[in-house]
Amino acid sequence: MSIWKTKPLSVLLNEASESEKGLKRTLSSGSLVALGVGAIIGAGLFSLTGIAAAEHAGPAVTLSFILAAIGCAFAGLCYAEFASMIPVAGSAYTYSYATMGEFMAWIIGWDLVLEYALGAATVGVSWSRYLLELLNKYGIHLNPNFICSPWETLTLGDGTVVNGGYFNLPAVLIVSSLSLLLIRGTKESASINNILVILKVIVVIIFIIVGWQFIDPANYSPYIPENTGIKGQFGWSGIAAGAGTVFFAFIGFDAVSTAAQEAKNPQKGMPIGILGSLVICTILYVLFAHVMTGLVPYYLFANDAKPAATAFAVTGYDFLQTGLIVAILAGYTSVMLVMLMGQSRVFYTMSNDGLLPSFFSEIHAKFRTPWKTNLFFMGFVSIFAGLVPVSDLGHMVSIGTLLAFVLVCFGILVMRKKMPDAPRAFKTPFVPYVPIAGILVCLYLMYSLPYESWIRLVIWMALGVIIYFAYGKKKSKLNNPQK
Ligand code: ALA
Repeated sequence: MSIWKTKPLSVLLNEASESEKGLKRTLSSGSLVALGVGAIIGAGLFSLTGIAAAEHAGPAVTLSFILAAIGCAFAGLCYAEFASMIPVAGSAYTYSYATMGEFMAWIIGWDLVLEYALGAATVGVSWSRYLLELLNKYGIHLNPNFICSPWETLTLGDGTVVNGGYFNLPAVLIVSSLSLLLIRGTKESASINNILVILKVIVVIIFIIVGWQFIDPANYSPYIPENTGIKGQFGWSGIAAGAGTVFFAFIGFDAVSTAAQEAKNPQKGMPIGILGSLVICTILYVLFAHVMTGLVPYYLFANDAKPAATAFAVTGYDFLQTGLIVAILAGYTSVMLVMLMGQSRVFYTMSNDGLLPSFFSEIHAKFRTPWKTNLFFMGFVSIFAGLVPVSDLGHMVSIGTLLAFVLVCFGILVMRKKMPDAPRAFKTPFVPYVPIAGILVCLYLMYSLPYESWIRLVIWMALGVIIYFAYGKKKSKLNNPQK
């Protein structure tokens, strides 16, 4: 059987109507924008901005944000077309099953583990750093061996330097608690989500307005620090490497595309939802990064997973800083839930297709959730959250997601050729230019990421290929209809 066999669109749409019966078209363009902003703002902004500035771009991390946003906008337009055509949970994995065939679908599904599972781990590590900062304020100090990965150097509030601990216990605890919550099933109410979105936006705006008054212009000089002679360390290549890093901060806008079936008017709502949330986030991010690097010299953010707290300390508004930290901690939970849930949905769908063992699609009798997948990823994500430093995690998530975006853009080109007449509520404009531009910008951002992330990506994907040929190809329901 061919590994390029595609899943017919009619089968996908049938599955969608069976599994998501009764979805109402209730989401206005405004709600779609809120959905996007809620899923987008998280550790990318509150943690990786500092790391991108310290390691790659200096104050010019603002330009990195703009570059990353351009790549996302192209990919976002492609996502919107797929979403309006194949409005099924499972996202990029499902889209490629219909267009590029089973092998590519598997590759994307496998790759999405980097986006969702490691994304949740990254946010978990950042969460733990903000928690420590909060506890420090109240004089509570945890045992350094249990707050730090073995490969991390951490400077505590009192100046003590921890050179590698056993593992990051708070990160493991938050990941585990949220995974258990998912098993019980969270019908995350729209109102809680809206409160979290508003809270996050308020945090960012307060940071910008209050911080602005304490900017020291000396911190902007030089705005683009000179390249050290090594690719990605400042200069133009540093801005690009910074873009690859802060790209993480935009991940989540694809969540808007999965709501295509619930949009009142997808033709209008999808582009507004996706591009609107991107535009709002880009403006907020650029201003935030500008203030952050204006408050303290960028190199102070090296290895700092809570740079917003570090920078805001300069203002001296201690109570406000405490409020910001609490809001960030609360806001992170919704991002982690979206990621952990996205991960379990993708593996659930892959298992239903026979590409993974049925273990991953077993539904809990009472809670009606894919609980075994959730438990599996509770362990998997915890290992990474406990042991890997935040910047290594962030780079892996970025490179993995960029690869998924490249494939989604490519999928639009394939679909326009193969199914030019299939109905789609939204059409990507200027095809083939927009998808091609998306592919080029995302590939460029991947190229700019550290060499180690490439090695890790290749190893991870090679493992995926081996598993596909050893298991998925033989067991796939599409390839083995008689079984
Ligand atoms: N964009 C999300 C974040 O920054 C993943 O946390």
